[in-house]
Amino acid sequence: MQPLIDIKNVHLSYDTASGKLPVLDGFDMSVPEGGFVAVVGPSGCGKSTLTRLIAGLMKPDSGEVWLDGQQVTSPRATVGMAFQNPVLLEWRSILKNITLPLEIVPTKLNKAQQEERARYLLSLVGLEGFEQKRPSELSGGMRQRASLCRALIHQPDVLILDEPFGALDAFTREDLWQIMHDVKAREPFTGVMITHDLRESIYLADQVVVMSGRPATTQFVMDMPVTGARSIETLYTPEAADMLKVLRHQIEVAQGRAPSAASNTTGGH
Ligand SMILES: Nc1ncnc2c1ncn2[C@@H]1O[C@H](COP(=O)(O)OP(=O)(O)OP(=O)(O)O)[C@@H](O)[C@H]1O
Ligand SMILES: [Mg+2]
Repeated sequence: MQPLIDIKNVHLSYDTASGKLPVLDGFDMSVPEGGFVAVVGPSGCGKSTLTRLIAGLMKPDSGEVWLDGQQVTSPRATVGMAFQNPVLLEWRSILKNITLPLEIVPTKLNKAQQEERARYLLSLVGLEGFEQKRPSELSGGMRQRASLCRALIHQPDVLILDEPFGALDAFTREDLWQIMHDVKAREPFTGVMITHDLRESIYLADQVVVMSGRPATTQFVMDMPVTGARSIETLYTPEAADMLKVLRHQIEVAQGRAPSAASNTTGGH
């Protein structure tokens, strides 16, 4: 079956005052429908750039980005995005922040149905009762949950998360991991998540892709032995410790702090 997201041999450079800055140098990645891939890599290697390419906000210099059998050349309404620091509009209620994308992308839902869907999503993430609050009245974790609802309001096929939980404390982050699994079970999407947190990557994703240092290639791919929703206890097993060790080593290789090993893919065992 063809993957829902297919990134083939993508090259991309930015034009800067001091000349061309090569960022992606033959990057490949594919995600099957309903899959969830985490992308990790050194700071500045091109992870956020990759999300902009998938969303169609930028075009590669060469190579191809495919979404659901169509080559991506412009922004797609079938993509939802959430970022590290959710930008919520203070002059709108949480409910009105969440329905905002429906004022921009085409929707078949009337106003009442839009609000109903927003309330449903808020209940999925444990924010019922907060519909009429302003963003400043919410904690960071709550704002991030609201941002997740906003990214999902138009039922996107693809959800892109760029370090969504990076600004949160460890306990709040673990709560949100659980919520992510719950949400994905109820609101199916194909996901790509950028993260610096290796535990987060192995707990949430079906596959972890390690990007090399800039200009980035696909350095290493690890398939998780368990996919979909899983218990937090899986993070405290010897298998998880082994996987984290392998990934940590790969990050050190990507940072140029350790020599590379021979193989570049593994089944995660
Ligand atoms: N619009 C731009 N113009 C010029 N250079 C850019 C632009 N956007 C990003 N860059 C540069 O491209 C490189 C990759 O940036 P990108 O934001 O994709 O990295 P990243 O992997 O997301 O980093 P981080 O982990 O810190 O979020 C960086 O060196 C950055 O300075
Ligand atoms: Mg980034």
